[in-house]
Amino acid sequence: MSNLDQTLSNTIERYRQANPASERIHAEATQALPGGNTRSVLFFPPFPPAMVRGEDCRLWDADGHEYLDALGEFTAGLYGHSEPAIRAAIAEALAGGLSLSSHTAREGALAREVQRRFPSMELLRFTNSGTEANLMALATAVAHTGRRKVLVFQGGYHGGVLAFAGGGSPVNVPHEWIVARYNDLQDVRAKVAPHQGDLAAILVEPMMGSGGCIPADPAFLQGLRALADECGALLIFDEVMTSRLSFGGRQALLGIRPDLTTLGKYFGGGLSFGAFGGRADVMQRYDPRSNSALQHAGTFNNNVLTMAAGLAGLTQVLTAGALDALARPVPDLAALARSAVDLKAPVTHPPLEGKVAAGAGAATAV
Ligand SMILES: Cc1ncc(COP(=O)(O)O)c(C=O)c1O
Repeated sequence: MSNLDQTLSNTIERYRQANPASERIHAEATQALPGGNTRSVLFFPPFPPAMVRGEDCRLWDADGHEYLDALGEFTAGLYGHSEPAIRAAIAEALAGGLSLSSHTAREGALAREVQRRFPSMELLRFTNSGTEANLMALATAVAHTGRRKVLVFQGGYHGGVLAFAGGGSPVNVPHEWIVARYNDLQDVRAKVAPHQGDLAAILVEPMMGSGGCIPADPAFLQGLRALADECGALLIFDEVMTSRLSFGGRQALLGIRPDLTTLGKYFGGGLSFGAFGGRADVMQRYDPRSNSALQHAGTFNNNVLTMAAGLAGLTQVLTAGALDALARPVPDLAALARSAVDLKAPVTHPPLEGKVAAGAGAATAV
């Protein structure tokens, strides 16, 4: 056994000894869940820690260890674990009944708030996840254009069935994909050329998140806008992650107007959420007052808890000023990390001066 193997094996053994409750919880879950897991990204061997509680930006696992939560649910946990405004909104909604089987005032109010931030979303609809929002946006583009091809990018991630790392996932939905290189307009044009007349949509993250936090070059996104216009395809910005980079997402920062936008994560105040929307002439097709309306079902699309939590988060916590402060670059990442490592010390944002250590690429967490 090499030194490296020995060190790894000692480390795994120490981890195991320090986390008996997590190991037991995982072992029990394996009786009903494959590998004890129902969300792939959370697993690592020999078993992941099981969390029992969260408060503000901290977490506690089943063995009593305290953590600083620097992941923030990949931005869905932007508000932390105990934001009072969100808790109050959930409690109020809960008191009014959970499943009302009807329209409520909340979905219209939340939709108007989303629209205020993203004016390109002239009309929008809610889903239960970012994955579902992207599935609906693509289905909308196919229905609207009557075409089948969809341009996506190597390394892109738009949900569990829309993943394009390493050539794509075997469980991807069966659209007719054209997969091009990100930030490479030449490659895009070469790959699209034979299919121009059959291109329904271009689906792109304005910054590739799980692909490595790679910001798209503004000229690349402008090139995609021009290509969509030339082909008569719909340009879809997946702003599930990048929406938090400014009040109007990355599209506002770059002044590029997509045909459709998808959202998710923190917009639901920490509860299951997704939204897709854009050009009124496209989204109008879902107007149920029309005899030929497209159907978009979903038992929980307007569930009262998400609508209430989302609205409270956006209107009471994540105001334009708060978002600006959040998106400001961290000047000294090392100092922030040092203060975070000492869990007894309060975690404070270091003074906003000095060298920039993080920018748009820090959209996942920190
Ligand atoms: C860019 C992007 N799109 C879509 C999704 C899928 O969202 P959800 O996990 O809510 O289905 C994610 C999730 O990480 C994402 O990062």
